[in-house]
Amino acid sequence: MADKLPTVRWGIVATGMISSWFVTDLLLPTWPNKRANHIIQSIGSSSQSKGQKFYDDYVLPNLAQNSGVNPKVYPDYNSVYNDPDVDVVYIGTPHSFHKQNCIDAINAGKNVLCEKAFTLNAADAKEVTQLAREKGVFLMEAMWTRFYPLIAELRRLLYEEKVIGRVWRTYADFGLSYDVESLPDDSRLKNLSLGAGTLLDIGIYSLTWGVLTLEENVGKGEHPKIIATQTLQGGVETLSSWIFNYSETGRHGILTSTSNVPVARSFARVEGSKGVITIHGATSSPESFTVKLHGEEGEGKLYEFEKPGRGFYWEADAVAVDLSEGRKEDEIMSLAETERIMGIMDEIRRQGGARFPSDTF
Ligand SMILES: NC(=O)c1ccc[n+]([C@@H]2O[C@H](COP(=O)([O-])OP(=O)(O)OC[C@H]3O[C@@H](n4cnc5c(N)ncnc54)[C@H](OP(=O)(O)O)[C@@H]3O)[C@@H](O)[C@H]2O)c1
Repeated sequence: MADKLPTVRWGIVATGMISSWFVTDLLLPTWPNKRANHIIQSIGSSSQSKGQKFYDDYVLPNLAQNSGVNPKVYPDYNSVYNDPDVDVVYIGTPHSFHKQNCIDAINAGKNVLCEKAFTLNAADAKEVTQLAREKGVFLMEAMWTRFYPLIAELRRLLYEEKVIGRVWRTYADFGLSYDVESLPDDSRLKNLSLGAGTLLDIGIYSLTWGVLTLEENVGKGEHPKIIATQTLQGGVETLSSWIFNYSETGRHGILTSTSNVPVARSFARVEGSKGVITIHGATSSPESFTVKLHGEEGEGKLYEFEKPGRGFYWEADAVAVDLSEGRKEDEIMSLAETERIMGIMDEIRRQGGARFPSDTF
């Protein structure tokens, strides 16, 4: 069956942590609901030796899964954009570089999957999405969690089966525990020009759980009003808390992120008139959820989902299927949705006070 699936050839830009996770997942033998085959076609890095080390560590051990292709390693990113054998470029640089990396790839006529946060602010995001529309290439933000089968099942239960009745409220958190002030100054988690702060790094996931659980038609119905506050340490935002208020349905989202307190294993809770759904795992990488009706005896019903590796293959499959069917954007993570999410994060920062040097608001 695997040979009947679409195949997509990836050019990997940057060889940091996320690129290693992405490539490792794509070179797994298989995964649930597999819809495409993936080939690592080329790798671009700031240096040949760094690119080669990435190849040795993450591609070579799994080369058998790469359809016999031995990827090229380039000491720059432009060679990836100009590689005629690359179907789609994956961008895994820090947030602040996404805009220019996307622009360069799109101008070379390449399709692009770009890590979250898509850019530093909504104005930059719109510049990039506009260019992709003009050039007629495919573009998507790599908000991988949205493509988990768990999300589709959760939303089916919430809005088709209405298993917890009328949905009223979602709490979602993403917390890590590190001392931002002791990080090196060039860390993307400390350096404001690299987009430091928890909101764009991890708060974007709490935000995503808010929209996915509170919006019946994600991005196509009521847009939430936002009330937000943030704590800054040495200018870097380390604590963000915001409320989504959907006045038409009356729903609220209470959404948070921090680098000062680790998140609980049950990181989100969706509350309805008949029951509660508690979601377990990592906020970016959920594993299971429990449905418990009000007054029900026992622990409730647990829904578990198989996930070899980390789960990046599902977003990659979506890109491959979109490309094979000639689409220029994805329905689940559309360009308008990326623009909207960046706009929400602008508004949280506008109210909360976190700023990047390149901001114009
Ligand atoms: N989806 C997820 O779950 C997830 C998880 C973690 C991070 N991310 C996202 O992925 C992006 C990268 O995060 P990461 O944790 O992988 O970062 P990282 O480990 O620091 O790697 C970033 C890579 O970008 C390249 N780069 C280019 N200019 C750089 C500069 N001035 N400073 C640092 N790196 C530079 C470097 O690769 P070369 O030297 O090879 O060019 C570097 O290895 C961020 O936008 C982050 O939000 C997503």
